[in-house]
Amino acid sequence: MTREVRGVIARAKGQPVSVETIVVPDPGPGEAVVRVQACGVCHTDLHYREGGINDNFPFLLGHEAAGTVEAVGPDVTGVAPGDFVVLNWRAVCGECRACRKGKSQYCFATHNAKQKMTLTDGTELAPALGIGAFAEATLVAAGQCTKVDPSADPAAAGLLGCGVMAGFGAATYTGGIGKGDSIAVFGCGGVGNAAIAAARLAGATRIIAVDLDPRKLEWARDFGATHTVDASKQDAVERIRAITDGNGADVCVEAVGNPKVLEQAFFARDLAGTVVQVGVPTPDMQFPAIPMIEFFGRGGALKPSWYGDCLPSRDFPLLVDLFLQGRFPLDRFVSERIQLDQVEDAFHRMERGEVLRSVVVL
Ligand SMILES: NC(=O)c1ccc[n+]([C@@H]2O[C@H](COP(=O)([O-])OP(=O)(O)OC[C@H]3O[C@@H](n4cnc5c(N)ncnc54)[C@H](O)[C@@H]3O)[C@@H](O)[C@H]2O)c1
Ligand SMILES: [Zn+2]
Ligand SMILES: [Zn+2]
Repeated sequence: MTREVRGVIARAKGQPVSVETIVVPDPGPGEAVVRVQACGVCHTDLHYREGGINDNFPFLLGHEAAGTVEAVGPDVTGVAPGDFVVLNWRAVCGECRACRKGKSQYCFATHNAKQKMTLTDGTELAPALGIGAFAEATLVAAGQCTKVDPSADPAAAGLLGCGVMAGFGAATYTGGIGKGDSIAVFGCGGVGNAAIAAARLAGATRIIAVDLDPRKLEWARDFGATHTVDASKQDAVERIRAITDGNGADVCVEAVGNPKVLEQAFFARDLAGTVVQVGVPTPDMQFPAIPMIEFFGRGGALKPSWYGDCLPSRDFPLLVDLFLQGRFPLDRFVSERIQLDQVEDAFHRMERGEVLRSVVVL
């Protein structure tokens, strides 16, 4: 039996989103239908609406979600109706060359549901990041569902689906931050603050938050920043060097997606340190003009971070457990709880920097 539910649709470039009735088919082989309980509003949803990702309108937005499995396809064994799950946008295949090398975090053949959700007139929808969870129910690949402890608040748990996981992993897995290390995080939105909280958890002793917005820097302190740098008023590279005894930070995380900031992260790093690029650039951006001798002479590593090099099956339950034990403040990323018809307003609050995450609760 197909379901008709309400979902948030972006019909055309730059147009305000609208709540419309969508048709969610029964799950086929390898698929699951999830009753969405909560879904965070992320910048990527706005990028879709602005035509910044591709032109496959209409989009069904939303991708940072938690909910309950309602139905599964005939061959699905990993999850069952009633399971509380967090959705991910990198369901690994287990068969590609990366997966066969045991490096599924790089899987080159991640997959989504094969069937399409539609509008009531049959128009096919393109779900954001293969999820589409600003909806009462959504169809995904079963591998996009990870079971976690059902006692967690869905509004907090769902945020693991994207930015918070990417930031945590950028510091932990890509950056390899450890006890006694120093870290500088450029851009203190949901992603950057998750990197800061991860660094605190890992035992980093100097945790430097860099942003242009004093409000963001104040929040960064709550998440564990030991120092803050307002890059609109101070030279970020100089300040970070001063805070780290003249050396630079062991790990610099770029969580903005801007070549100027990447350049700062490069020069704010200690010898043999690591730069992690987790902010997503736009196609027109060029790599900063860094003298090659500096690249060689400084050693270390420059590493892009896809989804924080996470493995949802390993990391979602782990982070939910740490949250429930009071060791990772997932709930503090939830700035406000809203309804489906308030997503457009939430985009504007996000643009004004007033929130870390608005979360639609259903
Ligand atoms: N790699 C991944 O898998 C992945 C996953 C999710 C999000 N992202 C990306 O991470 C980035 C951050 O996402 P977010 O949700 O935290 O966004 P956000 O907009 O909430 O935060 C960005 C922060 O950067 C600050 N900023 C802007 N310009 C700056 C500058 N020149 N110097 C210092 N700070 C500056 C802003 O004030 C803001 O606080 C985005 O590019 C997003 O697309 C990547
Ligand atoms: Zn694979
Ligand atoms: Zn996102």
